[in-house]
Amino acid sequence: MRTRRAALTQDVIDRDSQAIAQRLLALPFFSTPRIVSSFVSFKQEVATAGLNAALKERGHELCLPVVSPDVLGEMELYGFDLKAEFIPNRFGILEPPALPEHHIAPEQLEAVILPLTAFDAGGQRLGMGGGYYDRLLKKVRPQCLLIGIAFDFQEAEEIPAEPWDMPLHEVVTPTRHLICRR
Ligand SMILES: Nc1ncnc2c1ncn2[C@@H]1O[C@H](COP(=O)(O)OP(=O)(O)OP(=O)(O)O)[C@@H](O)[C@H]1O
Ligand SMILES: [Mg+2]
Repeated sequence: MRTRRAALTQDVIDRDSQAIAQRLLALPFFSTPRIVSSFVSFKQEVATAGLNAALKERGHELCLPVVSPDVLGEMELYGFDLKAEFIPNRFGILEPPALPEHHIAPEQLEAVILPLTAFDAGGQRLGMGGGYYDRLLKKVRPQCLLIGIAFDFQEAEEIPAEPWDMPLHEVVTPTRHLICRR
């Protein structure tokens, strides 16, 4: 999946990412203002710049991950101003400034938009192997919507699940809105 994703052209990424954003933004869930976390895409991941800008424009309270400088595998969430300067973390992923007044606790979240490497129809998810999302999702409320965004080819027959893996509720691709079976 990583090899296939790495081979995507910018044209395909842009076209598919736009389709994903349109589909996600059209969901009834996002028709009222939500406290939602998204992510800053890295390399050939689904591009989130347009989606994130649209979420903010539509009045959602948007926050983004900032990896913990001292606890490996943990990340915190921060809101940001449009004029804020983003800074690359140790992985090269851009992060908003970690201003205490913009900190959002996981318990406040109504939705988490997640990156992924692969997913299956049951909502099992492979990330990049750091356990960052698995740790974060342990702290969100049970009713918080966990929604993955992915290219269609990232669907696998069955993802092997480990005890710590937190499954997705829904997945949006360029062509589908999947409600995961439980
Ligand atoms: N809640 C947790 N508490 C402690 N360790 C955890 C927790 N969740 C995951 N881990 C550890 O993180 C490591 C990586 O997990 P995993 O392989 O599932 O990553 P991933 O789901 O691909 O990554 P990510 O969650 O960042 O997308 C595992 O070895 C696991 O032991
Ligand atoms: Mg996992």
